[in-house]
Amino acid sequence: KQQYYTEKYRPQFHFTPERNWMNDPNGMVFYKGEYHLFYQYHPNGTTWGPMHWGHAVSKDLVHWEHLPIALAPDEHGTIFSGSAVVDWNDTSGFFDGKSGLVAIFTHADTYPDSNRPRQRQSLAYSKDNGRSWVKYGGNPVLQEESITDFRDPKVFWHRETNQWVMVLAAGQTVRMYSSQNLISWEFASEFGAGHGSHQGVWECPDLFELPVDGDSNQKKWVLFVSIGNDPKYKEGSRTQYFIGDFDGKTFFNHHKPETTLWIDHGRDNYAGVSWSDVPAGDGRRIYIGWMSNWRYANVTPTKEWRSAMTIPRVLELKKTEEGIRLVQKPIRELQSLRHDKAVLENEVVGPEQNLLANIKSNTFEIIAKFEIGSAEEFGLKVCKGTNDETIIGYNPVNQTLFVDRTHSGEAVFHEDFAGKHETILLPENHQITLHVLVDQSSVELFGNGGVSVITDLIFPNQDSKQIELYAKNGKVKLESLELYTLKSVWR
Ligand code: FRU
Repeated sequence: KQQYYTEKYRPQFHFTPERNWMNDPNGMVFYKGEYHLFYQYHPNGTTWGPMHWGHAVSKDLVHWEHLPIALAPDEHGTIFSGSAVVDWNDTSGFFDGKSGLVAIFTHADTYPDSNRPRQRQSLAYSKDNGRSWVKYGGNPVLQEESITDFRDPKVFWHRETNQWVMVLAAGQTVRMYSSQNLISWEFASEFGAGHGSHQGVWECPDLFELPVDGDSNQKKWVLFVSIGNDPKYKEGSRTQYFIGDFDGKTFFNHHKPETTLWIDHGRDNYAGVSWSDVPAGDGRRIYIGWMSNWRYANVTPTKEWRSAMTIPRVLELKKTEEGIRLVQKPIRELQSLRHDKAVLENEVVGPEQNLLANIKSNTFEIIAKFEIGSAEEFGLKVCKGTNDETIIGYNPVNQTLFVDRTHSGEAVFHEDFAGKHETILLPENHQITLHVLVDQSSVELFGNGGVSVITDLIFPNQDSKQIELYAKNGKVKLESLELYTLKSVWR
């Protein structure tokens, strides 16, 4: 087994399937001390194929145990994305008055009399903590013949109105349904026409409430919508979000309809949703995304398996100069992987010198705070070897944060892979913090406490382990830097 996890490009602290193809995270739910992660899985190949739900569990969101496939195709079709909930009060009647897990997913096949795709919503339940699953005999439970793209149900219990709510992607809108028992669903509303980005089909929605700046008297609803790869847009698949209100039936967008907010400004964070049933005492809204892009997901240069998830992240809302924005932070549990530590304080970074010259790693975390100075650009070069490097930087003139993977290693597998991905990041008191996680074949960058995020795959030479602190045409003050090499979760 150990063999598997040391192959070229194999992430050491990100979730990957043991072998074969994975896409969207599905059915994330916390129950009886375990975080469940299901995922779109093709067990017979390393490219997308007939979809199953793969399954893994974790006690800390860092170390995962692989479990057998949870849901396999049946007479209603293959198993597309969806969610899972704890039915605490046995509203479904599946659990003899006790509690249990219910998965709500899309059955995908074609209409019997044509090749038109048919997507219908179905249920499965587990009475043994997710170890075995029974498909509901009355499947499918929700269909709309007139809507072709009709999938990815995300279900939650809405306390205020005492009902289950399902948010579902429907073409280029989302539709809300409500239910008392998870079995019979009633249409409630539709949102999306004229709002946000429509540069692709809408997929994998999520809807949840978050306090603003941690103030539970000031809450907002957040709607995530992933948009699929359209050949017209080189960015490929990506995820947008809306902030507003939800009354149990209808979502009200608080932004101008034409505003589009992206959760990530890199290319490799898609179809992500949040965990259900994280205990109120924990209070976190925990998210994970698929760390790839439909643009090139099927041709990335790995062999035994294909695709990883992002690290789990905590979602928050924060008031900024531009308005309320989503903030993402690496989950604190990851700190348990911290190994060797290096610290720098009050240093000046200029051309011609590298304060991190003695460190070699491609599995590490850096938290660095810079005070803007004369340098035209500054930051870190990572996974640097003779012929490759990935630049994680800030340009104070344009106020842009970026990851440049133009020369990051293998890139010819797709014409849209190489490139520089950037976003605006305003300094706070003339300072910029970069929180970076690098793992064999990925970079995750959280700017200024996670208001700007860039997630990018990279495929560097596996010996390219130099790390460089750099400043271009001038100097920058490094207030502080912590670097931790990270232990592999497999050891
Ligand atoms: C998103 C998606 C979903 C669908 C699944 C199929 O990446 O296209 O809409 O349910 O993947 O694998």
